[in-house]
Amino acid sequence: MASKNVLLGISGGIAAYKTYTLIRLFVKNGYNVKVITTKNALNFVNELTLRTLSNNRVCSDMFSFVGDVSTEHIALSEWADVFVVAPATANIIGKYANAIADDMLSTCLLACNKQIFFAPAMNTNMYNNKGVQENLQTLKKRGIQIIEPNNGELACGTVGQGRMAEAEEIFDRLEVFFSTKQDLEGKTFLITAGPTVEQIDSVRFISNNSSGRMGYALAQEIIDRGGVVNLVSGPVSIDILPNRNLHLIKVTSAKEMYEMALKYFENSDVAICSAAVADYTPKTPYNGKMKKKQESVTIELEPTKDILKTLAKNKGNRILVGFALETDNEIENAKKKLLTKNLDFIVLNSLNDKGAGFEYTTNKVTLIDKQDIVALPLKSKTQVAKDIIDKTLTFL
Ligand code: CTP
Repeated sequence: MASKNVLLGISGGIAAYKTYTLIRLFVKNGYNVKVITTKNALNFVNELTLRTLSNNRVCSDMFSFVGDVSTEHIALSEWADVFVVAPATANIIGKYANAIADDMLSTCLLACNKQIFFAPAMNTNMYNNKGVQENLQTLKKRGIQIIEPNNGELACGTVGQGRMAEAEEIFDRLEVFFSTKQDLEGKTFLITAGPTVEQIDSVRFISNNSSGRMGYALAQEIIDRGGVVNLVSGPVSIDILPNRNLHLIKVTSAKEMYEMALKYFENSDVAICSAAVADYTPKTPYNGKMKKKQESVTIELEPTKDILKTLAKNKGNRILVGFALETDNEIENAKKKLLTKNLDFIVLNSLNDKGAGFEYTTNKVTLIDKQDIVALPLKSKTQVAKDIIDKTLTFL
């Protein structure tokens, strides 16, 4: 861990005293630490102690370094592997949520494009204040990780939520962040996921049972390992936590999915098409609600475009992974798709396996490339996602 750089932002609250222990923990475990404080923070902790513990000068003022470079806020943000604000007061949370930069800490935060953690600390009523909670939601949506405050006795004497997480808890969160393999850093993935919905008229549609879970598990695995994901998703009822490396593009029809997949394929290193794309769509959707008739009706369907096949035509050096959902002659059919769609490998899902398929959180797949066929046991979709990404890496 010796090469990891932690930028610690301290804002003005009594919990600032815990940062002495936090800095010691980081330094003892081989991290480099630089500290930025707000002016108010220096009422609770002092510059000399912070400097001595971190073994680096402390930055509190935008303009205090005579003869220094004028873009210290940029240099510090670039130096950091991670930026932790502890304690995060209601004030700094509000400023950052609203992109205000009026001191060194808030300016550095805006200049930082690394992972940011906030460890809020404040009185329970302040913490529960609607405005503060909305600001925290805004931060979460932007991919900031919030290290939730604990319940307990607060400095003001009240008991409730608002006590900053202990130094050890903050340190552990950072250790988990750094210990996850970041082997996909610098790689961009396109993932298609979920079903598509093809309108028959304004209220009726043709779709399928795809839950999107496999595609979302893939996206999560890639983000966790430092990759960037453009997730083109049909309508699903699952969530994925916002992350600065995740771009969620919601689509409805096969046509929309086709257009978005092509758009994001251009800048991708890898495309994994896990979506259950409708093969047919109504030729002329009815404008409005079709009225009931006594006789039978025929809806003319026309084929949709094959996204994967189109991507394969412009493959270049990119890695292309497909899925095959089969019921008969599984291996043979999947191999056919591997070749006709010009894929690096294909993930075969069998509907004949118990616990595998659309509605389950588990899956049983076979990974097939031009050389090998590897049948994996029943696993969680998260674990299957790991296996698929590990296999993808062998082609990169
Ligand atoms: N696929 C796609 N665009 C389509 C249809 C399928 O990108 N219009 C992709 C799927 O995301 C999957 C792979 O092609 O990765 C195979 O999909 P599947 O439904 O198993 O096969 P099809 O090609 O549709 O053939 P069939 O339905 O006859 O099995």
